[in-house]
Amino acid sequence: MIAHVLGARPNFVKAAPVIAALSETGREQRVIHTGQHYDERMSEVFFRDLGLPEPDVNLEVGSGSHAVQTAAIMVALEKEFIERSPELVMVYGDVNSTIAAALVAAKLHIPVAHVEAGLRSFDMTMPEEVNRRLVDQLSNLCFVTSPEAVGHLAAEGVDVDRVHFVGNPMIDTLLSHLDKFDTEAVRRSYDLPERYAVATLHRPANVDDPEIAAGLVKRLHEIAELVDVVMPVHPRGRKVLTDAGLDAHPRVRLLEPLGYVEFVAAVRGAAAVVTDSGGVQEETTILGVPCLTLRPNTERPITITHGTNRLVTADDVVPAVAEALAAGRGEREHPPLWDGHAGPRIARVVEGWLGG
Ligand code: UD1
Ligand code: UDP
Repeated sequence: MIAHVLGARPNFVKAAPVIAALSETGREQRVIHTGQHYDERMSEVFFRDLGLPEPDVNLEVGSGSHAVQTAAIMVALEKEFIERSPELVMVYGDVNSTIAAALVAAKLHIPVAHVEAGLRSFDMTMPEEVNRRLVDQLSNLCFVTSPEAVGHLAAEGVDVDRVHFVGNPMIDTLLSHLDKFDTEAVRRSYDLPERYAVATLHRPANVDDPEIAAGLVKRLHEIAELVDVVMPVHPRGRKVLTDAGLDAHPRVRLLEPLGYVEFVAAVRGAAAVVTDSGGVQEETTILGVPCLTLRPNTERPITITHGTNRLVTADDVVPAVAEALAAGRGEREHPPLWDGHAGPRIARVVEGWLGG
């Protein structure tokens, strides 16, 4: 039995095509939801939108400090893995559920497969970078979305036999839902104007400190002077951003977090996106929507070299949006293997590795 450990919004988007591809092999699968994300708009809506199987178990760990949350996931997973003895544990991305599962599995001598291995921001102040580095050391199979990740893993001493460049399952999900992204329907549902920008912010470096958040709110208001801004607000930043008066500008629309299909439909119709999300940098690359990433670095440089992404500071985000609006959309050659077939490639490697 293969155990998939999922906990946070981006995990669901990455796992869906892998679980679907593995289900064709007939191998037994168990979906374990850690409960890291639990609001209906952060969790259930993704299972519905993506046709994911209902979780076989929800560990309901909820929120907490890094140590509290990671430890709670580890304690619950240890029990689960001992009871069920999976032959492989599959983990996704770089969230606390990912490191917790990899660590527990490794100590129980259960093999680990990491989907989205080898990405590096080289910024150890990001909790995700800590998670990424450790998970890759613990993984028997490292599934890589981008060629430079192979070099990062080699530089960290990861045996080349463990590394498989398979493409990007998040893009499998995007491409397989293209005909469902109905921008006009989203425009009507949320009363959006013809031209708008989408903004999302949830990185601790942007939304945890009220002063930094207030600075970004000021910039978002300046952007709203150029174009209407629609912002589905992640729960992490909700209080601090609204306390800083984010919704005080008449051309800033705050929404609850959107389900996957509505969100990507909104992004698809946007004139520009301002974000600090990892996944959104990749989605805009494929959709050809200009993406301004409010971060000093990215673990996804291919979205800059092959996509529409540009790193910006709070000081240059407003002129960058103005330029993006003037330049319009641009199609570029897609990154290699971002072709919608990463899930089946992963399933083939897993099957071969586990053996008949
Ligand atoms: C987590 C990941 C981050 C990822 C993001 C995707 C880690 C360390 N971080 O960040 O890499 O980009 O998910 O969205 O794993 N909350 C709710 N409802 C929920 C979930 C969270 O209200 O359903 C609130 C709680 O106040 C919680 C806070 O959001 O304390 C942060 O949640 P948490 O899961 O710790 O991290 P994220 O910021 O969501
Ligand atoms: N997303 C969504 N609704 C939203 C915001 C994001 O469906 O309101 C999707 C987005 O398309 C992407 C995934 O959630 O596929 C990424 O999640 P997030 O930005 O929270 O995490 P990150 O990628 O930064 O880890």
